[in-house]
Formats: sequence, C-alpha cells, structure tokens
Amino acid sequence: MVVIDVLRATSTMIIALENGCSGFIPVSTVEEAMQLAALKKDPDLLLGGERNAMPLEGFHLGNSPRDYRPEKVRGKVVVLTTTNGTQALLAARKAAEVFIGAFLNISALSRRLEETGRDVIIACSGEKSLFCLEDTVCGGAIIDCLEQEGVSLLKNDAAMAAKVLYEYYEGDIHGMLAGCDWGQYLESVGLGKDLRICAQTDSSQLVPVYREGKIFLDR
Ligand code: MLT
Repeated sequence: MVVIDVLRATSTMIIALENGCSGFIPVSTVEEAMQLAALKKDPDLLLGGERNAMPLEGFHLGNSPRDYRPEKVRGKVVVLTTTNGTQALLAARKAAEVFIGAFLNISALSRRLEETGRDVIIACSGEKSLFCLEDTVCGGAIIDCLEQEGVSLLKNDAAMAAKVLYEYYEGDIHGMLAGCDWGQYLESVGLGKDLRICAQTDSSQLVPVYREGKIFLDR
C-alpha cells in the first residue's frame, strides 16, 4: 500500500528524512502526541503537526517542509499529528507493507513497488474523507510511472481516472497544486512557498516505510 498526502504531510516526511530526521511516529490527536512525548521524556523526540495548516501550541515543528531543516531534525524522531495525512496512515497500519508517497519520490517509489511484486493499493488521504485533486493526480503519476516501466496493471475505475487526471496536469504540477482547494487555502494563509517544494517531482530517491508504528528508511 502507498499512502499519499501531497499537501503536505507525506511531502514533509520525505524532506525531513532527506535532512537527516530519524523517523516519524504518526498519531491521531494533539493530546496523544503530547502524552507520548511526556511519557518518553526523550530530548531526541520532537512534536510536529498542524490543524488548519497552522503549527500547534507547544509543538517544536509545524507541518511545513520548510520547518524540517537539517539543524532542527537531524537525528530526531518526530511525533506527528495532522488533519488527514496521519489519519490515513493510521488507517493503513495493518497493511502488509506501507510506503510513503508524494510527487517528490514517484520514480523511486514505483521501482520499490515493482520490486515487491504485490498488488498495490494507493490510499489518497484526501480532505476530511473526501476526494482531493492533488493526491489523486499523484496516484495517477505512480500508475503512469509503473506503466512507463513496462509493468502491466489491471486498473480499477479510480485508477483509470487518476491516470487520466495525471495526464491532464503532468506538464504543470505546481499549477495544479496552486489551483486545488487545499493549495488555494495554503496560499491564502501565507504558505504558498510550500507548494513549489511539494511539486518537485522526483527530487528524492527515498522511499520511507511505515512499519510497527514508525515511519523510517529501511535501506
Ligand atoms: C493534512 O494532513 O491534512 C495536511 O498535511 C494538512 C497540511 O497542509 O498541513
């Protein structure tokens, strides 16, 4: 299974791991995050997350990829709670294998999926359980990449629609992010710079896994 939250949770995780972060522990609520941090009393454990895209009081980090700079996150584990992304991850936790996907790692992720040889479910975090454009287009990009690599896929209707949407937007991923509902919202609250970062297709070779409650790099 692949979990996608292009804006911004899974993109932020990939950037943070690129910057030396050791991993993430996704949790559902702000209270849970605080309890876990209080219980562990570990200086290498940071709190990160958002509600309505805004950083949370008492937390070390928000959910902007720009927060996760090397000097802040190197060697740290982040307990993360976000509105949709971490909820989708928690819902996926019983799957045999869960990978973290975003535009940033499409090619590397597709290679990893090919290697596993399993059937693939692409879980789009969406917005409060509803369809969202950016995660669907990213799902379509994964499908397209697998097919370009010669993998023959038996696609359901949702996968076919995602691929068509990707073909429509592939020349301007940043424009698609700037035009979708959540992208417009992020722009309106001064977080438009994050869209450029999240639009950088294939800027990372990392494929984080979510296993036994933690997101990390297993190779
Ligand atoms: C989420 O999980 O809903 C998002 O990552 C929200 C955001 O842009 O911070």
